[in-house]
Amino acid sequence: MHTTGDVHVALRQMVIAIETAVSMVGMNDTNHGKRVGYIASQIAHQLGYNEHDAQYAFDLGMLHDCGVSTQQMHTNLVNHFDWEEAHIHCEIGHRLLKDFKPLAKFAVPILYHHTAWKDLGKLDVGASDARMANLIYLSDRVDVLAAAHYETDILLTHGTVVEVIKQYDGNMFDPELVDAFLHVEKYESFWISLENRHISRYVWDMEKFKSKEWLSLKQLKQLSMIMAYIVDQKSPFTAQHSAGVAALARYFASALELSEIQRDKIEVAGLLHDLGKLHTPDRILGKPGPLNAVERSIMNQHSYETYEILRHIDGIEDIARWAAYHHEGINGAGYPFHPSGNELGIEARIIAVADIFQALVQDRPYRRGMKLDQVLTVLEKFVADGRIDRSIVALARKHSETCFAIARSSQ
Ligand SMILES: [Fe+2]
Ligand SMILES: [Fe+2]
Ligand SMILES: [Fe+2]
Repeated sequence: MHTTGDVHVALRQMVIAIETAVSMVGMNDTNHGKRVGYIASQIAHQLGYNEHDAQYAFDLGMLHDCGVSTQQMHTNLVNHFDWEEAHIHCEIGHRLLKDFKPLAKFAVPILYHHTAWKDLGKLDVGASDARMANLIYLSDRVDVLAAAHYETDILLTHGTVVEVIKQYDGNMFDPELVDAFLHVEKYESFWISLENRHISRYVWDMEKFKSKEWLSLKQLKQLSMIMAYIVDQKSPFTAQHSAGVAALARYFASALELSEIQRDKIEVAGLLHDLGKLHTPDRILGKPGPLNAVERSIMNQHSYETYEILRHIDGIEDIARWAAYHHEGINGAGYPFHPSGNELGIEARIIAVADIFQALVQDRPYRRGMKLDQVLTVLEKFVADGRIDRSIVALARKHSETCFAIARSSQ
């Protein structure tokens, strides 16, 4: 699917990347979206849905929690069966997807995936969106009830899951959906397949069924903006950080007269570079003081996590590396891959400088945002240490007011 340097990315692979990123917020349980996708598609098959609709149910399950960025929200959603603030992440997810054409069809069901079936009828929602929304609600609550048991005693305890679901039959959940679930859950294989090893395999198998849908580079950029928003939302201190890094990186790429496609790709790398922070605990990202050694060691895993999310997407292997290398130094300092200076091409070097520049300008929990001359002083110290690229920092100095404005305008 490659034409003249342009990029085409399979939509299914991006759905998996979004799920991987968002499920990381679950910390030690990182497969919730995959399981909801699986449960929903199994119930869909039981209902006699055609393959297209079953695939839709799978993708919807994978994406349903795209409005959850923080551990705090995640914890409330899994610890309370009927959390009164659940609607917030439904509204965020809806808003994120509704204007992005390839995923807009999921927006309305996501908006209503915590709305009781008996209330759905009173709202102005189409029958098929309402049905899909309730299918996800049911699948999601089944998973939340069963999650602690998959690796151990699920074959003994699934009856208690069923009992709880039955209590809400006809009220929270559509009776036809509950009925289909009661058929599906009779198979031990259904429950066993939800454990970590099996569900991961299942999703990689689904990846091979790449639907015929492909994203252009322009659409990849739009989707990357959505993903950047999800990660930037995680902490008030990183609000707009990824967007600012991307804008600044694009500016450097233009000043260096890189091609239009290169500029777009660098911008995408900037938008996605900190995706792995979704796996960093809220308390570390928001700590109002310097990190201790243990916290630092956890924080420093995030750029590897970014790579782990992106490396599976065919056609953007280069973007995945530029994003993942944003804490590497030309002198071999930095982390976590320690590529040689030669392996750190201009694109990765641009992202690294843009990342430091934007972060210094921004207020952090342990310090105020820096003024322009302070930013330049820090950047030049890093150049002297051999960590970052001299020519890019020279550009930042030459156009310092513009760079400062770009880094700040994203505040
Ligand atoms: Fe969920
Ligand atoms: Fe980072
Ligand atoms: Fe960053």
